[in-house]
Amino acid sequence: MASRTTPLNKSKDPLKGFRVAVIGASGYGGLQAIRLLKDHPDFQVTYLGGLRSAGKRWTDICSFIPLKNDLVIQSPDPDEIALYADFAILSLPNGIASKLAPELLTRNIRVVDLSADYRYRSLSQWKSVYFQVPDGIEREDNELCNEAVYGLAEWRINEIANSRLVAAPGCFPTASLLALLPFLKQGLIDNEGIIIDAKSGTSGGGRKPKEHLLLAECSESIAPYGVIGHRHTSEIEQIASEIASHSIQLQFTPHLVPMVRGILATVYCRLRDPGLTAEDCTTVLKAVYRDFPTIEVLPVGTYPQTKWVKHTNKAIISLQVDNRNRRLIIMSAIDNLIKGQAGQAVQCLNIMSGLRPQLGLPITPFYP
Ligand SMILES: NC(=O)c1ccc[n+]([C@@H]2O[C@H](COP(=O)([O-])OP(=O)(O)OC[C@H]3O[C@@H](n4cnc5c(N)ncnc54)[C@H](OP(=O)(O)O)[C@@H]3O)[C@@H](O)[C@H]2O)c1
Repeated sequence: MASRTTPLNKSKDPLKGFRVAVIGASGYGGLQAIRLLKDHPDFQVTYLGGLRSAGKRWTDICSFIPLKNDLVIQSPDPDEIALYADFAILSLPNGIASKLAPELLTRNIRVVDLSADYRYRSLSQWKSVYFQVPDGIEREDNELCNEAVYGLAEWRINEIANSRLVAAPGCFPTASLLALLPFLKQGLIDNEGIIIDAKSGTSGGGRKPKEHLLLAECSESIAPYGVIGHRHTSEIEQIASEIASHSIQLQFTPHLVPMVRGILATVYCRLRDPGLTAEDCTTVLKAVYRDFPTIEVLPVGTYPQTKWVKHTNKAIISLQVDNRNRRLIIMSAIDNLIKGQAGQAVQCLNIMSGLRPQLGLPITPFYP
């Protein structure tokens, strides 16, 4: 296990800002992170890592997002990364980040991991959910699992600020938890019977080719998958239980829809107080998120659309109440690649660096 000797805010160059390595640069998460960091006033991208793309110039794989320094993608080497970076964003398949992160932490590099490797409090929990990925993986970093901070930025801001290892949440959990947590935290809903019905675009599956994500397979069709025991169920339950201080078991049903990006999560739960109206619950939501420009609470009767948050680090949320049966329905839309992935990672880097959480991030909703 890496020793905890990292000086925070390590070595900002007053002229150029903090130096960031992006590992997994050619993938969707890496690419979006580079796009956001490239124009950020306090960060500069100084190292790119990859596997199949190693040896290629950045402009060869992504000419439409030119970097001032046309870096060559490297096969990640912790000693070299330590020469060039203060922070690392790891945007890698599950099971790969946990090989690299301990090496980076011992070299005083603070890490934001976009995979699920550090989202669970214990290694045994991670193994019970991700046991097949990738085949034969050996991990012993239980203490790091325990140390890592879950990077749901609006809910863990103080912990993220002081952390050297942040586990950025999954895209489905981000949309779902931002809607659900305010009501669990305030004790306004039953802990039982919560249902999350969620839809994702195909970029949620990553850039690596997969048969079920071919246009011919998934266009003009909507389908549920992982109806029982999807991996994100346990991730959502873990954080929901922590916030509620009570063990939460819920139903999470994801669907694949034929669009490129976006998540829409609709959360169904039951109010404890039959007298609460949609306006009352909207007031609660607004109060909880009043200090966070990354969250927009819509008026009652306006329902979020994924199109409105495309390319932004914004979540838009609204709700309804059916007083016949105390049903509270909360709807939340995000861009899975930004608020659900790379944008949230940069938001965490901002917080870790003592900057404004939304600095350099697009948060203005997009209207076509
Ligand atoms: N897509 C989403 O909406 C989303 C949202 C939240 C979280 N996540 C999580 O974020 C992570 C990245 O997802 P993604 O969608 O960006 O995946 P992706 O598009 O498939 O990209 C994966 C990246 O990992 C690199 N890579 C794979 N194995 C490697 C290795 N052994 N060493 C170094 N680089 C390696 C690949 O590089 P080469 O091309 O060079 O091989 C590629 O750049 C995943 O864990 C995913 O679950 C995804």
